[in-house]
Formats: sequence, C-alpha cells, structure tokens
Amino acid sequence: MTKPKALATRPLFAEARTILEQHTDVEYWSEPDRIPRDELLKRVQDKDALVCLLTEKVDEELLAKAPALRIAATVSVGYDNIDISACTRHKVIVTHTPGVLDETTADFAWTLLMAIARRVVEGDAWTRSGTWPGWDLDQLLGADIWGKTVGIVGLGRIGVAVARRAQGFRMRLLYADSSRRSLDLERELTIQWTSLDALLEQSDFVTLHVPLTPDTRHLISTAAFEKMKRSAYLINTARGPVVDEAALVDALERRLITGAALDVYEREPEVHPGLIGRKDVILAPHLASASIETRTRMAVMAATNVAYLFEGRRPPNALNGDWLSR
Ligand code: DGY
Repeated sequence: MTKPKALATRPLFAEARTILEQHTDVEYWSEPDRIPRDELLKRVQDKDALVCLLTEKVDEELLAKAPALRIAATVSVGYDNIDISACTRHKVIVTHTPGVLDETTADFAWTLLMAIARRVVEGDAWTRSGTWPGWDLDQLLGADIWGKTVGIVGLGRIGVAVARRAQGFRMRLLYADSSRRSLDLERELTIQWTSLDALLEQSDFVTLHVPLTPDTRHLISTAAFEKMKRSAYLINTARGPVVDEAALVDALERRLITGAALDVYEREPEVHPGLIGRKDVILAPHLASASIETRTRMAVMAATNVAYLFEGRRPPNALNGDWLSR
C-alpha cells in the first residue's frame, strides 16, 4: 500500500523520523539554510502532510498549491505562522506542540532575567577582553533578584512554570491575564491577579508569556514603558511583536527602564539596529526551548500528530478539525 507523502522542512531528530517514516513516505529538507519559500511551495504540492517550523508560513498561497494536504504540524507551541482559518477552509488539520516546552522555556526566561539583572553578559565580555583589573567594590553592580516583584504577563502553562521558579527567590508575584486563574492556583503560586497597568507600575521584572494575537501585538509599547519603574527590566521569551521594538529602544534611551533581555524579535532574524550596540540589553537568538530533550520532544509530538491522522484518529494536538470524528 502506498503511504501518504510528507514534507518535513528540517531533518528533525531520529526519534521523530522513525515515527514519520512508519506512517509516511517522507522527504526532508536538509540543506544548512532553511527552506526557501519557492522550494517549499514547489515541494509541498503533492504532499499529504507538512511538518514545518515557526519560520514557515502556512497561508492561503501555500494551501492553494497543495490540494492534497491534510495536516500542517508545526514544531512549535506558537502557531502565528499558520493561518488557521485558511487551513480550516481547505480542511487541513493544524497541530502544534503544547506542554512539552513549558519548563525549558521557563528555565530560559529565568536565565535571561538573572543574566540581565546581574550583568553576566557584560561581565563575560570584560573578562575575555583581558582588561578586567580584578575585583573591586563597585564593578558591574546589578540589581538583586531575591525579594523583588516579578510581573508575569500571561499566566498560561509557561507563565505558571515561571511563577513556580520564583518561590525560591522569595519574590512577590503578580500576573495579568485576560481571565483570572483559579484561587487554588493563585494560592499555590502565591500570585496575585492585577491589571496590566498595575503590574507594570509595581514590577521589578516584567516577563512576557502571551501568544501573539491581534490583541497582544505591541502590547508593550511606549505607554507601557512609561508606566514601568525606572529600575525595571523587561524579559521577552514569547513573541517579538508583543513588544514594539522601536518603543523599547526609545525607552532605553530615555532610561524609562533599566534593561531588557530578549529571545524574540519583531522581524526575526532582524533585530532593531538600536538594540545591537547597547549594554543594557541581552539579545538571545530565539533559544528558549532549545534543549536537546525538549526540541526532541517537540519534533516527536509533531510526528505523532501526523501519525494519528493517518491512523484515522484525531491528532492529540489539533487546533481545528471539526470535520474529524473525535
Ligand atoms: C515555540 O514553540 O513557539 C517557540 O517559540 C520555539 O520553541
């Protein structure tokens, strides 16, 4: 029996390949550079399944060229790269990878928070430069983390994992979200629900954990920076466009906040030129989920979703697909 055809825009990991290859006749894009758009459009034409990354757009143009496509499985929890309504119109199931990267992403949000507060990247550069004269009383003074207030914008799975880690630092915890979480969870995390404005006004560290939607685009812009403490830091491991990068540069210039640590950017891989030369920012290359274990789990999850569909079952992480029996 011929197997459904799949395209994976990266070679994935062996564990995920095994699953895909059991269920599909799969072609991998394995060039060092990511798949160019025209190659993607060409190669997807005769495919039943696409395993893609957050850097590939699945939109009307692609769907119109891939009449056999039945599933687009993105190896990411965020799915702002995918036009879900267009996929639904074309009866293409969309799946993502929720749950498996929460802890790893939370680890990295804390990595950035601690690194910017304690000026680790600046210190590393100084030590390597050979110009560090040795210990002195007032070198590279940063901000304490313990005992401070951390404001979590978006208390979903990742926000919760970030909150759990704050306990050991004896921090005060605030969160802003469109809906209030259960009292049990609030008690467990010792976290308080506030308006975004109150969170911005009171937090020493503001960390973003919302998905990118029309409502969250530029959620953090000049008005937000003007509300923040001058001593505050912004941490973004969510999606770049949640922060207005030009407004961030302006806020740093005007010293409205003390620093920012970013893992994501408005127009990746471009970074606003006003951020590049600054010492009061840390610029990570979208690394938050990048542990071997987690990236493997994400790829396996995407492959498993594809496998489910071709076994006639609803993929566990489907975002649409009312036409499939449950
Ligand atoms: C995601 O999964 O959406 C992250 O941005 C990459 O892991």
